[in-house]
Amino acid sequence: MLHIVVIQHGTAYDKDMPYKQILLTGMRPTGELHIGHYFGVIKPRIELQKKHQLFFMIADLHALTTLTDTTAIERDTFRMLAMLLASGFDQKKIILFRQSMLPAHSELAVIFSMVTPLALLELNPTYKEMLEENPRKRTLGLLSYPVLQAADILLYKPSGVPVGKDQAPHVEIAREIARRFNHQFGRVFPEPRTILTEGDRLLSLQDPSKKMSKSHAALSYISLLDPSEVIRRKIKSAVTDSGKNILYRPIEKPAIANLLLIYHLASGISFTKIEQQFKESSYADFKSALADILIETLTPIQKQYHALIDNKMQLAQVLEDGEKKARAVADKTLSEAKKKMGLPF
Ligand code: TRP
Repeated sequence: MLHIVVIQHGTAYDKDMPYKQILLTGMRPTGELHIGHYFGVIKPRIELQKKHQLFFMIADLHALTTLTDTTAIERDTFRMLAMLLASGFDQKKIILFRQSMLPAHSELAVIFSMVTPLALLELNPTYKEMLEENPRKRTLGLLSYPVLQAADILLYKPSGVPVGKDQAPHVEIAREIARRFNHQFGRVFPEPRTILTEGDRLLSLQDPSKKMSKSHAALSYISLLDPSEVIRRKIKSAVTDSGKNILYRPIEKPAIANLLLIYHLASGISFTKIEQQFKESSYADFKSALADILIETLTPIQKQYHALIDNKMQLAQVLEDGEKKARAVADKTLSEAKKKMGLPF
């Protein structure tokens, strides 16, 4: 069986996983979310919750690896949670929890560090990237980031881990750690599959040679909380390519292809149909239609978000409920591992 599954945007999402499976994924609480996160991360998880048992972890310990100011973690955790719920995460289906509230994650990471060769971490491509972005964070925590992630994953014995491409190397490391542990102490951890859910990344609205990212200028991305006028203004000022045809040609016309991709993701309409629909239109008309459809998509989510964000008690309750359920599973697996190693459990 292949250990990497790719789930395309908007297709029958999991022909390859017909039965209810346990899946675990996580996200660092790092501030503002944009439409790339919505279409690439949030929406695919909402699809997965329909058929599978999804554990969704807010990776607040992982956030520490790059943050210097940690005072925003709590605020960002609640903002992220409110946005996930507003977008359609069903708290009855998805088990939502904070990583730092479950000591089993840190404990298993220490145990795993004993079976993880340093070379595996030093060769990890995301380590090199993160170090380039945060040159002053040359810490053990950054190097051992995948060891903690392996603990996050393996505690739940999931059959799959939904992630974007950039995280695939970390799932590979988790599989390697599972093999080494099982080999040395006896079988505890199944090796999970990587489930690639992200599809094509959105590009910056100001410079299509870059990815859409909140670390670039505000005009270059659309935040999930941007008011309608702001969305309209950002789309209007998005750069376009020479020529005037609205065609999906990612190589020759990357800027227009990016806008078409956003239109496709927001509407679910195929590229060919969109091209047909706007055959006679100017860039300006197309942009105005695109702004309309984005506003239509985001307005109800924003309403929900604003209704939730001030109800901190309710949000805290969602996490506490999730943490109770997650803890029951995580603690059991940790005991099983310790027992196999001959530690008191
Ligand atoms: N490293 C992931 C990211 O930055 C977040 C994460 C932490 C994660 N633990 C995980 C993802 C376990 C999948 C499974 O996006």
